[in-house]
Amino acid sequence: MATATDLKGLADRAVKEISSAADEAALEAVRVRYLSRKDGLITAATKEIATLPAAEKPGYGKAVNEAKQRVESALEERGRALREGAIAKSLSETADLTLPPRRVRVGHMHPIARTIREITRILGSMGFESVEGPEVEYDYYSFEALNIPRDHPARDKFNSFWIANPLGDPTDRRVGLRPHTSPMQIRVMEKRKPPVRVVVPGRCYRFEATDATHESIFFQYEGLAIDEQISMADLKGVLYSFARQLFGGERKVRFRPDYFPFTEPSAEIAFDCFVCDGSGTTNKGRCATCGGSGWIEAAGCGMVHPEALRRVDYDPSKYQGFAFGGGVERLAMLLTGTPDIRLFHENDMRYLESV
Ligand code: DAH
Repeated sequence: MATATDLKGLADRAVKEISSAADEAALEAVRVRYLSRKDGLITAATKEIATLPAAEKPGYGKAVNEAKQRVESALEERGRALREGAIAKSLSETADLTLPPRRVRVGHMHPIARTIREITRILGSMGFESVEGPEVEYDYYSFEALNIPRDHPARDKFNSFWIANPLGDPTDRRVGLRPHTSPMQIRVMEKRKPPVRVVVPGRCYRFEATDATHESIFFQYEGLAIDEQISMADLKGVLYSFARQLFGGERKVRFRPDYFPFTEPSAEIAFDCFVCDGSGTTNKGRCATCGGSGWIEAAGCGMVHPEALRRVDYDPSKYQGFAFGGGVERLAMLLTGTPDIRLFHENDMRYLESV
């Protein structure tokens, strides 16, 4: 059994440890060592009181109490001192006003998104409503209804990603990732009666190798106008205005015959190069933007094929229309001077923030 002298020594030790506790965690550890209910050193002494002969109880009990009180008040005092010290320290911390400020990072639109906004804004000003359609599309809309039946060689141009259907693939219900935005021509005409004027921006997919000007995932914009007495002259006027608003200046538009099964006649559109003004050369030599030709090929277009109109129950003797479709990345590359299409999708912020 511990004597009263032992208890005083125990308390002395505890008080010393308490005064050297550097923080509140260290202080708590001391408290546990001496006073924890289960196996604290002073707690153990308290428990011994009950085992003593009656004559010794008062003297020993008093010594235990004194030891306990000394430790408790030392704990309290040190605890208060540590808390006050922490507050004083935090108050004395000063801000270093000579540090350079942190750069505020302001986000900005991705160049592709910005180009889509610009395209839809310009066409919107000419009355084209912007609509979007499904990226997973039926064979029927991607091809069949656009006058490209199953075995038509024009399908070779659209290397499509097909999606396996566990229920089987009845010809027109086959689904795949759309290889162009043209299917929306049919979807819109099915739902609306003329006059129709829409622009359809959207993501497209083709199973093709990637290089500086091709990606297997890319964006297109599609224009469609249907009304009575619409002619190729209207198509020209719209594209002419589009080119001038997009690239600035007095742009020229070149039409060359092309072939698309869903337009007749069909044409390929090029704009005269806005960097060399169509000359093909700059003061640095051959114009890098147009490759020296003076022309920038931008889109396919044409008068909507009567067969496509009949599909959606439009009477071709009453209604005509034009359509055009091109690549968004192509325009974004031209507008930002981006030499490689892959720079748009690599997500390297150093590049994206620079254009
Ligand atoms: N959808 C065609 C393609 O991806 C481009 C195109 C050509 C769209 C002629 C049209 C059009 O609307 O009239 O190659």
